[in-house]
Amino acid sequence: MYVELDLVERPFTERGSRLLVLAPAEEDGLRVARAEYEAPLTVELSRLVVRDAGGRELPVVSADPVAVRFEGGAELLFADPSTLVLTGEGGTASWRLPGGTVRSVELTGCQVVVGPEDGPEVGLEGEWAAGGVRRAAERRWAEWFALLPEVPEELAERARMAWWTLAVNLLPIGGREGLVPSKYGYLGVWNWDALFHAVALRHASPALARDQILLLLDHQLASGQLPDVVHDFGVLAETTDLPRSDLARLSEHVGRANGAGMSATPVPVTKPPLTAWAVWKVHQADPDPEFLAEVYPKLVRAHEWWFTASDPDGDGLPEYLHPYSSGLDDSPVWDYGPRAEPPDLNSYLIHQADCLADIAEATGRPEEAARWRERAAAHQELMLARRWDGKGFRTLSDGAPVRVRTVLDLMPLFTGRLPAGVAAELERTLRSPSFWGRHPVPTVAFDDPAFEPDAMWRGPVWLNVNYLLAEGLERSGFAGTAAELRRRTLAMVRDGGGLYEYWNPLTGACAPRATSGFGWSAALFVDLAVSGSG
Ligand code: GLC
Repeated sequence: MYVELDLVERPFTERGSRLLVLAPAEEDGLRVARAEYEAPLTVELSRLVVRDAGGRELPVVSADPVAVRFEGGAELLFADPSTLVLTGEGGTASWRLPGGTVRSVELTGCQVVVGPEDGPEVGLEGEWAAGGVRRAAERRWAEWFALLPEVPEELAERARMAWWTLAVNLLPIGGREGLVPSKYGYLGVWNWDALFHAVALRHASPALARDQILLLLDHQLASGQLPDVVHDFGVLAETTDLPRSDLARLSEHVGRANGAGMSATPVPVTKPPLTAWAVWKVHQADPDPEFLAEVYPKLVRAHEWWFTASDPDGDGLPEYLHPYSSGLDDSPVWDYGPRAEPPDLNSYLIHQADCLADIAEATGRPEEAARWRERAAAHQELMLARRWDGKGFRTLSDGAPVRVRTVLDLMPLFTGRLPAGVAAELERTLRSPSFWGRHPVPTVAFDDPAFEPDAMWRGPVWLNVNYLLAEGLERSGFAGTAAELRRRTLAMVRDGGGLYEYWNPLTGACAPRATSGFGWSAALFVDLAVSGSG
């Protein structure tokens, strides 16, 4: 059984497939839809119903990764990623095509519902009508679930759901098998999502983990910049690549506090510099010096890009030139304009320099390693000298400090290089009522005027933020707080119903507009659960 599919939040779908089988509340029977990049789901067929010989409609009795089963024994199965078949003996099935045509078939053997009429391409001929499709599906899923690392018993059910999510979110994209954030709304490989996905996959399939990173690096621009998204039609790496709907949304909220607005000049769009961090994590789980040697020059160029192309005032402290580059699309940081420097960016860069040092050491470049360590130390000194005001790190917008209190204020802990007093001050802030509740950590302080518990990056809890912060706490000497943060994060996801995109920090429930089956929530839940089991 592995996971029960409700056919709403968790559709029946398959690794490598863009098809989703759903049971919409508002209509009779099942619907098959197709997921595409930046488009609403397109309907392939609707009102799929199975009837017995007397014409009585037979309900779905269960759905799991292997099959959707109807009363009486008929089953809907994937014969291959683009072929859905119906098996059963006796009775009829019917469905409606988008133009309104209704198809009816007598149920016998194995019949194609979506896909090439003459059957699947996977070499099941002869066998496939006789239960071969089902046996192949059972084998596939047994193999995938056998890879799930051990987790504590109380987390096992949610971990199975997460593991299924990671499988079905794998699709051929950008020349490799890439993990998409969600088949609901995010059909591409997003830059930092891919890195978080790699962190979980390293436990079970290091090759697949490396592929997520390589897919991103395959699409590096000549400037060294990494794209924000790799999708079916190319990459999103600049504002001119943004879908129209995103441009409209951005112009509504960016700069609303001071009328700054979006600039018409094209700017690069990327995601936070965590690539070397992910490479090192994958390497730690499955040492592979060849992989390190292959990616090192690309990582170096990606790192340098921030200093040459994303530091408009040239002060050695790069800035984000677009909200999406921070990964925190609608954070109140952007209420003051599209060019901003919250404290996370330079913290990630400092740590990335340390990771580059680790990689240089592991690939026999001791002198380069020493230079990266010096760079990390100097960068840290600079951030401290220019951005620490004695109580906290400043967020700048267009070069000037702005009044926002976000979780990014605490991210300098990620460097593990802060003076003890500064680190202690940040940890105190995290444990204060501004940021510490039953469900830490809100992305905007509970007592900041911009806090909204259900609005994406304006308050909700996100697993990647908690994950990075917990790691930073540990590196900065706060193992107890790190463990407590991880414990509460796991409990929130275990008890909160599903692998959502983000959660309301007051209730621990899914925020209403958050998508489900979200890749990095699944990935980081698994990784935290695995670490939790020691
Ligand atoms: C949203 C998030 C961004 C993420 C993307 C794909 O735009 O704000 O951080 O990378 O979705 O999941």
